[in-house]
Parts: sequence; structure tokens; C-alpha cells
Amino acid sequence: MRWTERQRAMLQAIGVRLFEREAQPAAARPPVRTEPVEVQASTSSARTVPVALEETPGRSQVSLTPSGGLTRSGRSGGVQQTVERVAVVPRPDTSTLDWDALRSAVADCQACALAQSRQRTVFGVGHRQAHWMIVGEAPGEQEDRQGEPFVGTAGQLLDNMLHALGLTRDEAPPERQVFIVNTLKCRPPKNRNPEAAETAQCAPFLERQIALVQPRIILAMGRFAAQALLASDEPLGRLRGRMHQYHGVPVVVTYHPAYLLRSPADKARAWEDLCLAATVVPGG
Ligand code: URA
Repeated sequence: MRWTERQRAMLQAIGVRLFEREAQPAAARPPVRTEPVEVQASTSSARTVPVALEETPGRSQVSLTPSGGLTRSGRSGGVQQTVERVAVVPRPDTSTLDWDALRSAVADCQACALAQSRQRTVFGVGHRQAHWMIVGEAPGEQEDRQGEPFVGTAGQLLDNMLHALGLTRDEAPPERQVFIVNTLKCRPPKNRNPEAAETAQCAPFLERQIALVQPRIILAMGRFAAQALLASDEPLGRLRGRMHQYHGVPVVVTYHPAYLLRSPADKARAWEDLCLAATVVPGG
């Protein structure tokens, strides 16, 4: 890949040493199919949603029980085991919502305890036909206050990473202006990790956002976004570096910008992930 002067400057700004590399043809890395887990809801027929599965090794299944409970089960040593049961309310059916209705549904959501502690919901920002969709974890303190994703220091690094690819969150044509969303629309108290039930409850919003935008590439930033989208419990290190799919949309997994601020040595790897994504959809 050849860098323009602008990209060189941007790469240096995010602390990535330059390297010249030929773009790898997409055909050289066949997409790896990942299978969403199946959720059976009492209010509707079985449907598939992505959920975060953190603790259960191997393949797991999450089921919404008739009483609205959520059962998480998996195989351990060949034996089927139920590992968790938590109460959740029936998930919203977002499958027919337009943008305005979806935004209202997010703003009005009271489905989990995060609604009590949030200041604002964080719906997401960007071009409604963006080629690139960026999926983060959950709002932090500043995002909760401002109602916009990635506005803190991690957001500054994300902006620089996007700029290095010729992408932006500011107004631009859909090949340049990204759409940025989070897996959770509400801030977990004290920025704790999202819980599996919260991720499952919020998944229909993200699902519908992706269906409406129809991005050409999804960049999943961090373990929680990656595991939720791919319905996987694999660690981030095993998920990055290859192409996945979410309902037919290519997905590339990379480090969360907040992690990169703590571990700058991994910025070069993050840049490799962005380059992999750019082999599918070149930046602007
Ligand atoms: N981290 C995220 O994953 N999302 C935000 O919006 C902010 C920080």
C-alpha cells in the first residue's frame, strides 16, 4: 500500500511507524463464517441475534425463556450445562423500525437497569449510508453526558485512526463519512464491562442500525463489540487478523482505542487491522 503525505502525517500522529505493504487481495483470505447463537423469545418465533458470551468455553447458547428469563448454556466436557439464568424483559422487535422510530425506541428504552443510571442514551452518529460502520463497546462518562459516541480521549485516537484511512465522522460523502455506534446505548455505571444480559437486551438496536445503514465493512473495536457481533467467546487476539461476517457484511476486529492508549505498542497491529478492512472497502 502506498501512503499519501496526508496519511503519513496522520499515521505519525497516532504513533504508528510507517511500513510499505502491498494490499492483500480479499480472495487471499477467505471470509470465515461465524454463526450467531439462536435466541428463542416467548413473544416471537426463534430468531438469531448476536450476544456476548464471556464465560462459557466452546459453543454456547442463550435462550430467552417463556418467563422472560435468559438462560445461558454451553458444553463442558461433552456435558450440556446451564451456567446462568438472569431476568430480562422481552426484547423489542426493531425489525421494521425506520430511523426516527428506532431513535425514539432507544431514547425511551427502560429494558434494563442502565436506564436508571444513564444521563442520556447514545444512539450513534454518522452517514446513514456509510460504507464503514464502527462498533464500539458502550458510552463512557463524556459520551453519557453529551449523547454522542467516542467523544473522549479514546474518541480522539479513533478520529486519528479514521483520518489515516481518509475517513471521518464529520459530514462527507458515504464512502468517507463513517457511522459510529456502540454495542450498548447506555453507560454502564463506573464504566464497568457490559453484562451478557445487557448486550442481549440491546442487540436489536444495533441489529437494526446495521440493517438500515447496510455498511460494506464493519470495524468491531474491542472484545465486547467483537464478541457481541460475532456471537463468539474467543479472545480478541484470536478474532483479529482475519475476516468475519455479520449477516453477510464483512467484519474486521481490532483493539479498542482506550486499550491502545494504555498499550501503544499494539497500535501497529491495529493499523494492520485497518489495512485489512481497507482491502474490502478502500478509505476515502
Ligand atoms: N468507548 C466506547 O466503546 N464507546 C464510546 O462511545 C466511548 C468509549
